[in-house]
Formats: sequence, C-alpha cells, structure tokens
Amino acid sequence: MTAVSLQRCDACGAEFDARALHVQCTRCGGLLALRHPLPIARGVALQARFDDRLRAAAPGYVAGRQGASHHGSAHLADLSARASGVWRFRELILPGVDDADVVSHPEGNTPLLHRPAVARWAGVDDLLLKHDGHNPTGSFKDRGMTVALTQARRAGARAVACASTGNTSAALAAYAALAGLPALVLVPAPRAGAQQVAMGKLAQTLAYGARTLLVRGDFDDCLRLVREGAERLGVYLVNSVNPYRIEGQKSVAFEILQQLAWEVPDWIVLPAGNLGNTSAVGAALRDARAAGLVDRVPRVASVQAEGAAPFAQGFQENFAAPRRVRAETVATAIKIGDPASWARAVRVIRETDGVVTTVSDAELLEAKAAVDAAGVGCEPASAASVAGVRRLVRDGLVAPGDRVVAILTGHVLKDPGVLLDYHRAGHDAPLVNAPAEVDATLDALAAVVDALAAGAPSA
Ligand code: F0G
Repeated sequence: MTAVSLQRCDACGAEFDARALHVQCTRCGGLLALRHPLPIARGVALQARFDDRLRAAAPGYVAGRQGASHHGSAHLADLSARASGVWRFRELILPGVDDADVVSHPEGNTPLLHRPAVARWAGVDDLLLKHDGHNPTGSFKDRGMTVALTQARRAGARAVACASTGNTSAALAAYAALAGLPALVLVPAPRAGAQQVAMGKLAQTLAYGARTLLVRGDFDDCLRLVREGAERLGVYLVNSVNPYRIEGQKSVAFEILQQLAWEVPDWIVLPAGNLGNTSAVGAALRDARAAGLVDRVPRVASVQAEGAAPFAQGFQENFAAPRRVRAETVATAIKIGDPASWARAVRVIRETDGVVTTVSDAELLEAKAAVDAAGVGCEPASAASVAGVRRLVRDGLVAPGDRVVAILTGHVLKDPGVLLDYHRAGHDAPLVNAPAEVDATLDALAAVVDALAAGAPSA
C-alpha cells in the first residue's frame, strides 16, 4: 500500500499519478491498477462506517442536477454520491474524492435474492442471486462507469470511448451524458443479417446520445481498434482495461459481503467474457481481507459460454499460456474470444482456489428461463452464472450445503430478441411460454381461463 493513490503497471511496476489519463503503461504497454493507502479505520470499525452510510442513504431523494452544470448544485451531487452503493465504499475505491466531483446516477444497492425454484433448478439450497440488472442502465457496468467518468471529468478528458458488446456502451452513454462529455462507442456490426448487439443495449446507447459506430468486425476487433486509437486521438478509454472501471466494479463484492452481514459465502459465481469483472471481484476480495472486513475469501467461479471459452480452456491447462478463440454464442454479451484481463483473472482464480467452467447455449437458456419464470429475469449472459452453479454441483465442486452467490449481470429486457425467439410456438425447450392468438370473444377467453385454472399450459 502507498501514502497516496497512484496507478501502477501490472507488468513492470512503473508508477503514475492517479489522475494520469493514459490507461496503459507508457513504458511497456501493461495494464495499470490503482493502489490506494490502506484506510485508517479497519476491521469492525470500517464495517461500522459502511453500515452507518448504508442506513443514512436515502435513495429516493437524489435525482439531482449534475454534469456540466454541477457547480451550484453540489449539494444534490453530494446526495447522489451518498446514496450510491459504489461510493459508500469510497475508502477502498477512490479515497479522498470530493463528493461534488462524483458522477453518479446513483448506482449499486442491488438486491440479493433467494428464489427457491431457482435454487432447486441449480441443485443447491442456499443460492442467492445478486441482481446487478437493477442498476440504472440495467447492468453491472454502471458500477465501473461512475468511477471512470468521475476520473474523466476531474482529469479533464475531452471525450470518452469504449468498445462494447452493448452493456458497457449503454453505461458509458448514460454516464457521459450525466458528466456532459462527448462519447464514442464501437460495437460489432450485424453479420449475415444477425444482430451482434442485443436490441435493448443498442437502443439505450443511441437514446443516451453516444456517437455509435457499427464496426465491420467482432468485439475483439472493436477493442483492438479503440485501444490503438484512443490515446492517439486524445480520447479517454473506459473499457475494463481502464483501472478506474475495475475500482468501481469491486463494489459488487463489497455489497454482497455487507448484505451477508460480513459473513463470507462459500462461492461467488459470475459470467466471464473480457475478464474485467472476474478481476474486479478478485481485487475486492483481496482489499476486503487487507482492510480486515473479512478474514477469509469465497472461492470465485468464472463461467464462460462453451463457444467463447478461452479462459476455461486455459484453466484446464493450468493457464500455461493465454488462449484466444473465435467466439460464438447466443449470449452476445460474453461473445469474446481474446479477453483483455487474462493475467489478472488468472491471479484471482489462483488466489481464491477458484475454478473456471463452461455451459452450453442450451444450458444457459434453460437457466435463464428458470430465472425468468421465478419473476426475477436476467439477460442470457447473466444466466451463465446460474447454469454454471448447476454444472459445478453436478461436477461435485459445489456441495449441496454450500452458500453460493450467483451474480446476475444484466436485466431481462436487455435482449428481447433472444427472449422472444425462445418463447416461440413450437420451440421444443423447457419452460417455453408462447403467446396464443385468440378471437376477441368472451368464449375464447373463457376457454383459456378454464385451461389455466386446470393447470394446463396456455392454449
Ligand atoms: N455479463 C454481461 C451482461 C456483460 O455485459 C458482460 C460483459 C459480462 C457478463 C462479462 O464481463 O467482460 O468483465 O468478463 N460485457 C462487456 C460489454 C464486454 O461490452 O458490455 P467481463
């Protein structure tokens, strides 16, 4: 730990001012990580501080004016920062930040749900769903974006950019609008008539006002291009290679621990694509232990789609070398073949005695149908975590008595295309709920109600 926050290169150890606007090491090109001084309050004192802030937050009263006009409305910005489930943990995320600088909607404070039907489906009683689809733009990306845009604005960025499979771009667009900064987004263009970005995500990105480019290539091409171009073009890159993004995304693990009264679950299971979130959760657990919030850490399980599983392949080989694949999966959010945060995520799996597993598209869609039918709902990639839990139970890695937290990373409405395709008439899959067309008569309605009451499937 250090006396002040600074950015340090993972690869060569070079150190940079915390406000520097480059996101990779200017000496060797390695990824940068923020390092903060350890908070003076630790252990139960730090727990108590976080718990007091949680009690004091009033999330209903914080829709303040922000952004370019934040001067003069500092009080409202302060309230927003105080209501945020990210900034509640500021000592471990960006110590010393001025409330008035914080770009917050607010975000975080997402529910931890127990749904017996989903637990039964997965095969483990004590399954908790951490639903990060309840964030303001409907995905966990908001947690990182509030910190990245806070840094962009306080350090004087002239524009912000990202490559995305859709959720990062939606979050970027919303937070850039709040910060009053122009935003540029690169997403994969439709290929052979098929959308590569889910409809809800593209719609949000346009609605919030980001300049949106449909790049003829896949996500890996988009990320390569924006990484090459951003620095040269003087644009601040806010993909998860940006260390500020990781700092914000740590908060999901802090929230989970706090919601469990600082009792450590046995597992945290999450979907994995570019490996930013695996890295962030691991970093949070490391910090939580260093600050005395917990005295042990859960095992981390990263779950990939079978057709986009370079990290799972690496795990099988004891991570002998980074792998890349040409990615293919119905879960477009994690359709990523060349993950950027590979080395960091390897460290997390090793440090937490973690595992990496895969699920097929059919398995993740079935898990999604189970989560959806419980009235909870999530997007396809998110359901990989629940499908992964079932896989780990069947493999004997998760014991039926374990306490497991599965992170649901995105909202059910993110991907209506996959949803409607699943629930189409004649689709042979579990839990299909196809709509039925009826005549506009009471008789037709009565027949449906009779069938419903008798427990028959709808029409
Ligand atoms: N779940 C969802 C819903 C996502 O959108 C993503 C990544 C992940 C899981 C995987 O997280 O990449 O940190 O391992 N979405 C990125 C995007 C790539 O552009 O929205 P990861």
